[in-house]
Amino acid sequence: MLTPNLKEARIRTKNKVSVKEHEYILNDNLKTLGKDKKYYIKTYGCQMNEHDTENIKAILEDMSFLETDSMDEADLILLNTCAIRENAHNKVFGYLGRIKHLKMTKPNLIVGMCGCMAQEESVVDEILNKYKWLDIVFGTHNIHNLPNILNTSIAQKSLEVEVLSIEGDVLENIPVKRENKYKAWVNIMYGCDKFCTYCIVPYTRGKQRSREPKYIIDEVKKLVNDGYLEITLLGQNVNAYGKDLNINYNMANLLEDVAKTGIKRIRFVTSHPWDFTDEMIDIISKHDNIMPYIHLPLQSGSTKILKLMGRRYTKDMYIALFNKIKNKIPNVSITTDIIVGFPNETEEDFSETLEVVNTCKFDSAFTFIFSPRIGTPAHRMKDDIKLEEKEQRLHKLNELINKYSKEANLKYLDKIVPVLIEGISEKDENMLVGYTDTMKLVNVKANKEYIGKIINVKITEVKTWSMNGIIEEG
Ligand code: 5AD
Ligand code: SF4
Repeated sequence: MLTPNLKEARIRTKNKVSVKEHEYILNDNLKTLGKDKKYYIKTYGCQMNEHDTENIKAILEDMSFLETDSMDEADLILLNTCAIRENAHNKVFGYLGRIKHLKMTKPNLIVGMCGCMAQEESVVDEILNKYKWLDIVFGTHNIHNLPNILNTSIAQKSLEVEVLSIEGDVLENIPVKRENKYKAWVNIMYGCDKFCTYCIVPYTRGKQRSREPKYIIDEVKKLVNDGYLEITLLGQNVNAYGKDLNINYNMANLLEDVAKTGIKRIRFVTSHPWDFTDEMIDIISKHDNIMPYIHLPLQSGSTKILKLMGRRYTKDMYIALFNKIKNKIPNVSITTDIIVGFPNETEEDFSETLEVVNTCKFDSAFTFIFSPRIGTPAHRMKDDIKLEEKEQRLHKLNELINKYSKEANLKYLDKIVPVLIEGISEKDENMLVGYTDTMKLVNVKANKEYIGKIINVKITEVKTWSMNGIIEEG
């Protein structure tokens, strides 16, 4: 048993990160472990987790497991979890309650937890106390070892816990089963060293480790060959890409090299305002295949709160960067993340957040109530704002955000925009859905033959979170 340790997870050394090309090994005797068995995975949280799930699926299929989308049919259920806020945590434990009933009727059912919650000491303690009926728990640094973890648990009929709390390496030979035929996630870095005071990510994902450029470019070239149209470069803090490589190669260089592969659409998430350079802005504006869409988390509009959050920029610095991006990249859409109710946030601090929203008029935003995470500095800060007050702030903020989302969308009315059509609408089978270059969701009345193509669409109706359009012929 290898359980997580928050103190160790916090350590950052100057040790060189190793790039491992042969870490994932599947012994012949495990290639049929899943024969005639089905797996079901439920994924919580961010794109990074979604992409990890694509790796986990490929590993399970290497072992002959087949995917099912029905939990009741599964022989193996995995929850790939998120630790960013308390409600994600509660959802997972709620779900485990449901699975327990299933396990009582199917004693051979294997149940596992992985992802960021598995990296939390308190979660693993809770599992060892109250959820001993689970079969496997593995961390974000242990995915490649899933075959052995599963094999041991099945052979010994025991709960196998394998969670490393390390800075982490870069593993280059993990297989992937991509969910989408037209757009793909591409990891460019792992972990984070920013240690914003509220955030659990630097503890659950290890230190910042950039992938070497050649592996990224090769992966993108292969995706182009396989017919992919869009890629999203993934990292907790992509603008800091390359800083840990010591090869004088940064995010702007990477964006330029990726653009040269000829892939039709390039996106990247998530940006931290601190590392957003002028060079990057230039490269984005110069290349038509780098999408004019930037997710730029603000977190708070109060310089006092930003300091307490450890964000390394002031309200004015954020606004200056925002304006620079808006001025240099035509039609850019900018979205953000905002936390309300951080410890010590006064009514005045909150009104500064509203003020920044009024200045920036974001295309849209993800908004959250601060959620204290065990082990982070903000967890230890005195927090005497009532939940009711926090909820009121969130509500007020959301109303303003929605007003500007609709306003931003209204600018598209009657315009012709390129849309990558991804599939059929879940709500109406006569409608197709896709995204504009600026990441706006569009429902299009069109024939199925357009799926997987980038087409010009005339916007005919605009709502707060989506738009409707028709194909523009010619
Ligand atoms: N409480 C509330 N929101 C959080 N986020 C990260 N940690 C917390 C927390 N402890 C939000 C930030 C981040 C987004 C992914 O989640 O806004 O940008
Ligand atoms: Fe968390 Fe800050 Fe790192 Fe983003 S930059 S993952 S908010 S610590």
